[in-house]
Amino acid sequence: MFFNFLLNFALLISIFIFSADSITNPELESLVELKSSLDPSNKYLTSWTFDGNLCDGTFEGVGCNAMGQVTNISLQGKGLNGHLSPAISALKHLTGLYLHYNSLVGGIPKEIASLTHLVDLYLNVNNLSGSIPPEIGNMENLQVLQLCYNQLNGSIPNQLGSLKRLTVLALQSNQLTGAIPASLGDIGTLMRLDLSFNHLFGSIPTPIAEAPLLQSLDIRNNTLSGNVPSALQRLKEGFQYANNPELCGVGFHALKVCSDSGNPDEIRPEPYAGRPINYGIPKTNIPETANVQPNCNQTQCSKPPKRRSHSSVVVGVVVATLALSFIGVFIITKHRRAKQKHGSSSELSDTRLSTDQPKEFCRKNGSPLISLEYPNGWDPLSDGQGLGGLTSEVIQGFKFNLEEVECATQYFSPGNLLGKSGFSAVYRGVLRDGSMVAIKRVSKSSCKVEEAEFLKGLNILTSLRHENLVRLRGICCSKGRGECFLIYDFLPNGNLLRYLDLKDGDANVLEWSTRVRIIYGIAKGIQYLHSNKVNKPTLVHQNISAEKVLIDQRLNPLISDSGLHKLLTNDMVFSALKASAAMGYLAPEYATTGRLTEKSDIYAFGMLLFQVISGRTKITNSIRVAAESSRPQEFIDQNLHGMFSEYEAAKLAKIALNCTHESPTERPSIDEIVLDLSNCTSCYRSP
Ligand SMILES: *[C@@H]1O[C@H](CO)[C@@H](O)[C@H](O)[C@H]1NC(C)=O
Ligand SMILES: *[C@@H]1O[C@H](CO)[C@@H](O)[C@H](O)[C@H]1NC(C)=O
Ligand SMILES: *[C@@H]1O[C@H](CO)[C@@H](O)[C@H](O)[C@H]1NC(C)=O
Ligand SMILES: *[C@@H]1O[C@H](CO)[C@@H](O)[C@H](O)[C@H]1NC(C)=O
Ligand SMILES: *[C@@H]1O[C@H](CO)[C@@H](O)[C@H](O)[C@H]1NC(C)=O
Repeated sequence: MFFNFLLNFALLISIFIFSADSITNPELESLVELKSSLDPSNKYLTSWTFDGNLCDGTFEGVGCNAMGQVTNISLQGKGLNGHLSPAISALKHLTGLYLHYNSLVGGIPKEIASLTHLVDLYLNVNNLSGSIPPEIGNMENLQVLQLCYNQLNGSIPNQLGSLKRLTVLALQSNQLTGAIPASLGDIGTLMRLDLSFNHLFGSIPTPIAEAPLLQSLDIRNNTLSGNVPSALQRLKEGFQYANNPELCGVGFHALKVCSDSGNPDEIRPEPYAGRPINYGIPKTNIPETANVQPNCNQTQCSKPPKRRSHSSVVVGVVVATLALSFIGVFIITKHRRAKQKHGSSSELSDTRLSTDQPKEFCRKNGSPLISLEYPNGWDPLSDGQGLGGLTSEVIQGFKFNLEEVECATQYFSPGNLLGKSGFSAVYRGVLRDGSMVAIKRVSKSSCKVEEAEFLKGLNILTSLRHENLVRLRGICCSKGRGECFLIYDFLPNGNLLRYLDLKDGDANVLEWSTRVRIIYGIAKGIQYLHSNKVNKPTLVHQNISAEKVLIDQRLNPLISDSGLHKLLTNDMVFSALKASAAMGYLAPEYATTGRLTEKSDIYAFGMLLFQVISGRTKITNSIRVAAESSRPQEFIDQNLHGMFSEYEAAKLAKIALNCTHESPTERPSIDEIVLDLSNCTSCYRSP
């Protein structure tokens, strides 16, 4: 009885503290609301469990000051696909908000403007729409405003001119229209202004041209007109103006001289008058030229929005608060934890791959405005590092910059991870032109130590071109990340393993003719690799397997990772060999000779051929015996229910047996195999 009373009393007190806590801790309430708005499916912010102190470091991406107040939120590239809630405005002490490289939708809430301590606002590379709230002009401490690569429309608010500390304003690649506000010229601190790839019209206001610290002005691909202020000549390469057909001016090599029909101010069109505007949304053919060297100096233009280290300084101050509201917090915790559990159990059934629609936000030679800062170090592709002369013309044509890679993969969002292996991870990505790519991420420690060797390998990789090889689109090496990226075409149907070991009636069971065509295609790919051409030495693949054969939409085979071993350290190559030995692809002579030759590729091809016709990954001795004694019913895939050509089956079985002969000299060459296969009837039939 007394105990009961005590319990009730305790409950009462805690309810009191609970409500007191929610009044005195609006930051907690704000984060609860932010979590559900930014991440409505509760997939990515699972560390935000509200069962500890906000500032104890358990909240991913939340940074605090010594007073236990939230000062930073950095959640770039987390796959967030919700919206930004007005509740953000309760985080009064925020100095940095980094939400770039996500898939946020909806508008920018005007309430964000009450974050008057905010210094960095990064909302770039999302899918935000609506207009830019004029209230942002009140954010007196703002230094970097990154809103580029979204769907923002309406005009640029004049009020942005009141941002007296702004150094970087990046609005490129949106749907902005109207004139460039002359008030932006009032920002004495402005160093970089990017307005490119919008629908802006009117002329370039002279005050902007005269902004004292301006280093870079990009207005490409708008419909601006009139006389370009000559003060912009001082920016040299920092002024980019291509694709504004109506611009004119003196002293700019690509501009026509203005017609001297009077004062240029008179021919300046009324900014808001109903003048026909080209609203064609620019999507493709982004000019690849005109890349300025990141001529940004000092810190502001490339402030790295790194994950903030969660400060531990906070603890001391926090202890007092904690002690006071201990019971309350305890109860809240229990309550929220229970809620949380409900959320996460339903989440398990969801798949994480949610970025199927192409996202168009990457650009070749993207603006340095959204690039981050990387320290010096390893970058075999960069010029002027003593090895500059070694990078061939060809490699140059394949170079991507890191920003494109980060953009395409949404900053390596876990939702885009396709797979991992010993030395690499593969991410799905979407390039600016909308095409899907698979980006293989290889750490520096897995790559050949000698740069010259590595570059030689890259030269080979970039020279490979065949319809049965997965196409390499680009390469990117980042010294800062200590990683290289290989950008390949993306093949949505996965690899050949997906078509093996199937149950009867599975939709992926391949028809006989398709199998023959796939085998023929693989053989042609290998033939190309083994061939010796002007720009291409003979190349042994070394790692042919069902996993390395990707399948396109028309069920054509494409061999992946060709030449990859030329980039990797021996350790990495050996570990790949171990894997292929475990799967039965490694030719037996490797054990004695320690060498991989064309004939070892042939061996692996023979195993693959057996797999394709039998529909199994594991090639047992009984399959071989049945093939030797020409009993196709016993080695051809049962799922075909006899729907295959006996003639072709016998022929393929013979090739497979020859290819997997113990003695390499007994195995046919790939030219002989291709010739042999080209006589069969199924090979040319289209699906
Ligand atoms: C901006 O886009 C929104 C939809 O995202 C639309 O409702 C609005 O009318 C557009 N405004 C302008 C000025 O085009
Ligand atoms: C830029 O403008 C040029 C010329 O008008 C056009 O060909 C190109 O497609 C535009 N690019 C974009 C991304 O809008
Ligand atoms: C950056 O500025 C410093 C001095 O302010 C100068 O010495 C240096 O050359 C500049 N670097 C670049 C890349 O402009
Ligand atoms: C928050 O961000 C600011 C500015 O980027 C930085 O100086 C500060 O160290 C960060 N604070 C914490 C606690 O991460
Ligand atoms: C971006 O949002 C628009 C609507 O505002 C939608 O039509 C489009 O599909 C979205 N794109 C992506 C990549 O999410």
